[in-house]
Amino acid sequence: MKHNRSTVARPPHERGIAEVRDLILMHDDDSRRAGAAVPPDDWVPHDPFLSMMNDRFRKGVFGPHPHRGFETVTYIVEGSLIHQDSRGSQGVLSVGDVQWMTAGSGVVHLEDPADEKPVHVLQLWLNLPAAQKMTIPRYQDLQGSKMPIRKEPGAEIRVFSGSSGGVVGPALNYVPVTMADLHLNIGATIKQDLPGSYNGFVHIVAGTGQFGRDRVMGRQEQTLWLERTADVNDTVLTITATTPLHAVLFAGRPLHEPIVAQGPFVMNTKEQIAQAIADYRAGYFGK
Ligand code: CO
Repeated sequence: MKHNRSTVARPPHERGIAEVRDLILMHDDDSRRAGAAVPPDDWVPHDPFLSMMNDRFRKGVFGPHPHRGFETVTYIVEGSLIHQDSRGSQGVLSVGDVQWMTAGSGVVHLEDPADEKPVHVLQLWLNLPAAQKMTIPRYQDLQGSKMPIRKEPGAEIRVFSGSSGGVVGPALNYVPVTMADLHLNIGATIKQDLPGSYNGFVHIVAGTGQFGRDRVMGRQEQTLWLERTADVNDTVLTITATTPLHAVLFAGRPLHEPIVAQGPFVMNTKEQIAQAIADYRAGYFGK
């Protein structure tokens, strides 16, 4: 008689770290210091993520500019950010807050520090599925202080999107994404559960830690990419703080769709990019 393997509870697969990357510095002057945590144009390994900038800037750096075909997820590290757009919406984000903007069919917006001090943000560009690239623009302002918190010994995990240990974040997703803001005291260890199909990374805002199955070291401004585990159902990522650690985790289900991008437009075909440029010039994104 054969043993029924499905009755044996197996522990989730321990995720390893595939790669540790330093910030790629792109601007470094009085008005802006910005580096790519996730560099653009390398779509397949990062899918469903397009890029992420670690960006400190003063007033006037980001005047009115368009977006179409994806979402921007902006996390405030320090300072405060004013946001205004062509549809008349306006908001202010403070430290620990997130704005989850679905550009969809198109917005024109500006992003500025709320005062004379620079603002420091992480801005992720998250792709939209082909079927939702022209969806109606949407904003989700997610205040850090109102997010559900998973508490572990010496650690707090604020869940903006997806889940962590059964604590569920409020963000509405077109692409299923887990986003968690991680604060660990020195010596604390957490285990973040992730579907095996998700591709993702951890970006370290401050401090140092050990990440994944092989306890890979990471420090401030580094980005650690998780090993892909598409053939596994359940995985966990283990993180231990070796100094007080602040990091942000993003993981999401890849889209496996073609990408054609030009500047602030990210679509599936060249024709759609030409259409985006024509629509923007014709004023269809609003003023
Ligand atoms: Co923008």
